[in-house]
Amino acid sequence: MKYARITGTGSYLPPTALSNNDLVARGVDTSDEWVVERTGIRSRHIADETQAASDLALEASRAAIASAGITAEKIDLIILATSTPDYIFPSTACLLQSKLGVRGAAAFDVQAVCSGFAYAITVAEKFIRSGSHRCALVVGTEVFSRILDWNDRGTCVLFGDGAGAVILEASDTPGILASALHADGSYNEILAVPGNVCGGRIIGSPFLQMDGQAVFKFAVKVLADVAKEALDQAGVKPEEIDWLIPHQANIRIIQATAKKLGMPMEKVITTVEHHGNTSAASIPLALDAAVRDGRIKRGDTLLLEGVGGGFTWGAVLLKF
Ligand code: ACO
Repeated sequence: MKYARITGTGSYLPPTALSNNDLVARGVDTSDEWVVERTGIRSRHIADETQAASDLALEASRAAIASAGITAEKIDLIILATSTPDYIFPSTACLLQSKLGVRGAAAFDVQAVCSGFAYAITVAEKFIRSGSHRCALVVGTEVFSRILDWNDRGTCVLFGDGAGAVILEASDTPGILASALHADGSYNEILAVPGNVCGGRIIGSPFLQMDGQAVFKFAVKVLADVAKEALDQAGVKPEEIDWLIPHQANIRIIQATAKKLGMPMEKVITTVEHHGNTSAASIPLALDAAVRDGRIKRGDTLLLEGVGGGFTWGAVLLKF
């Protein structure tokens, strides 16, 4: 088996959707016009208090398992990307495994913020290509609403909750063709939740903090560079990509990246308008949406790419 190939996709959004006007009604000092113009976001889904990241992941995973036509017992590796885990430990991957009612598969979390899914699927591919594992469940799941300061209008309007998942299996047909991952920890302060718990108290801040303009510039530059890197690795030209599935942070970042790659927006999957930024969940959510509505078909060439806190960034080129 030479390749690791996606055989199923799934996603889940909590039922409660909040529009920009709903946020205004709840006291956020903003307007629908401002948020739509600067970000392209019109609404986002918010988990209720009883739903943790593992609960969202469970629904997305069940859908991915069903779409792959397998049972959960077949999965021998669970890699889950999140920055909003249920607990400090055990990992959300282990909690998900328990909720799926299976035992024995290796299970662990990956923490790369909004690049988390690109990191997780790349790690899963390496396990499968090595021959050590054959069937991976790869999940991105987030409840970012838990770490938002609703008094900070510069950040609270941007994010939402959700989960997406894929089943990645050993295959003779391609498969993931190339991937590239990077990080530069010296940018850790431009996007962070700089807090921790110590002796029962929160040390630092439990809320997301961001230098929006610094993030914007950084994201546009590295997304274009890492896309080219993955394409060059595989000898694929930008015009051969059927669908670009970028991390859904902001429509202006997505448009600027597509322009740098010379890709028309008709070939870009966007969900940011109705999901907001769901961090590690945004790429698998967008992938699943476009698979289920029939835009993405078997054999299509897809380029996934993410950028997020750390800073981290990555791209994955694959045949669907
Ligand atoms: N509603 C109304 N006004 C607002 C809001 C809001 N929600 N937020 C900020 N403003 C105001 C500011 O107070 C400021 O007012 P002032 O001129 O009177 O001081 C004005 O709007 C401009 O503020 P800026 O922060 O300079 O606005 P900017 O044009 O940079 O847009 C934004 C802010 C949308 C966050 C932009 O910087 C951005 O998109 N950055 C990328 C950040 C991002 O996508 N982060 C996601 C996480 S990272 C990732 O996933 C890669």
